[in-house]
Amino acid sequence: MKTILVTGATRGLGLAFAEALSKLDDVELILGVRDLEAGRRVASDLRGRVQVAKLDMASRTSITRFVSTWDRPLYGLINNAGLQNVGDTSFSKDGDELTLAVNHLGPNLLMRGLLPYMQGGCVLGIGSGTHNPEDKDAARFGFRGGRFSSIAALAQGETDAQTQRQAGFDRYATSKLLAMAVVPEMARCVPATRFVTLDPGLMPGTGLVRSAPAVVRLVWRAVLPLLVPLMSGASTPQASAAAGLTLLLDPELGQSGGTYHYDAKPSTGVWSKVNDPEFGRIVLEQTDAHLGLDPVGALRRAS
Ligand SMILES: NC(=O)c1ccc[n+]([C@@H]2O[C@H](COP(=O)([O-])OP(=O)(O)OC[C@H]3O[C@@H](n4cnc5c(N)ncnc54)[C@H](OP(=O)(O)O)[C@@H]3O)[C@@H](O)[C@H]2O)c1
Repeated sequence: MKTILVTGATRGLGLAFAEALSKLDDVELILGVRDLEAGRRVASDLRGRVQVAKLDMASRTSITRFVSTWDRPLYGLINNAGLQNVGDTSFSKDGDELTLAVNHLGPNLLMRGLLPYMQGGCVLGIGSGTHNPEDKDAARFGFRGGRFSSIAALAQGETDAQTQRQAGFDRYATSKLLAMAVVPEMARCVPATRFVTLDPGLMPGTGLVRSAPAVVRLVWRAVLPLLVPLMSGASTPQASAAAGLTLLLDPELGQSGGTYHYDAKPSTGVWSKVNDPEFGRIVLEQTDAHLGLDPVGALRRAS
């Protein structure tokens, strides 16, 4: 029996992961959700061994509490929960800019807390083509790629964007760049566990754009899903979740440190920074320091 935790399993890609995992006989599924009622509604529609647990990725207290109750081997962690905020800059209760908190800091805190329970398992992170300033599809939507200054500055909401919308796009792209850059670095530092990134492609129709203007939400929800077969770089939550599960469950296909596309093939759209060991080291060191964690990079240097 493999125990697999999916964060943000109430809708979109996380829900598609939960639906696909619940059909596997040898999986015990844990839905980590911030809204327990919504999580229970999802679980009631799934068959198989499914549990629901409170897990707010914007709250270090919630994550620490979740980890403190964990007591068994974990095969898979799918760090799926994420948000994109193009509204006013918001902060978590811990004082961190919210996009960074949910998309990068929270997943790292959770992963580090659960790592002692994982031996030979896999942590699957969710990337995005928006991290890459050379991605033409993302640029068409207004993204200009990840813009890393320091974790401390980003956590304070610092930005050089001239508009609120651009600041929101930058925050999202940067949080994804950081989440992706940590993966090869973790793979270098902790060889016993696999660390893999899925770039799920553009999946219109999910709840991701909920802070966007009404007209954008309408097009996203009602028009773009119809155009998925015609759009380059587009996918559906179901197709991307299927690819993610292939990578999670098959060590041959999901090799540690790799970034894969929604067809489960190695991604060709990865910015060089993601696989730059120096950049990965800096991001992980600053993330550890910001979260008050023991530096994981010391493991590699000591070996
Ligand atoms: N859609 C795309 O085109 C696209 C492209 C590339 C990457 N992605 C990535 O795919 C992942 C899933 O996104 P999606 O498109 O499926 O969006 P979505 O439909 O909005 O789903 C996001 C999920 O994350 C949860 N979540 C948000 N904040 C949370 C928090 N503080 N604590 C716990 N859970 C939280 C949401 O819970 P609630 O239901 O409670 O809000 C929801 O279950 C994200 O990492 C996103 O960045 C999406």
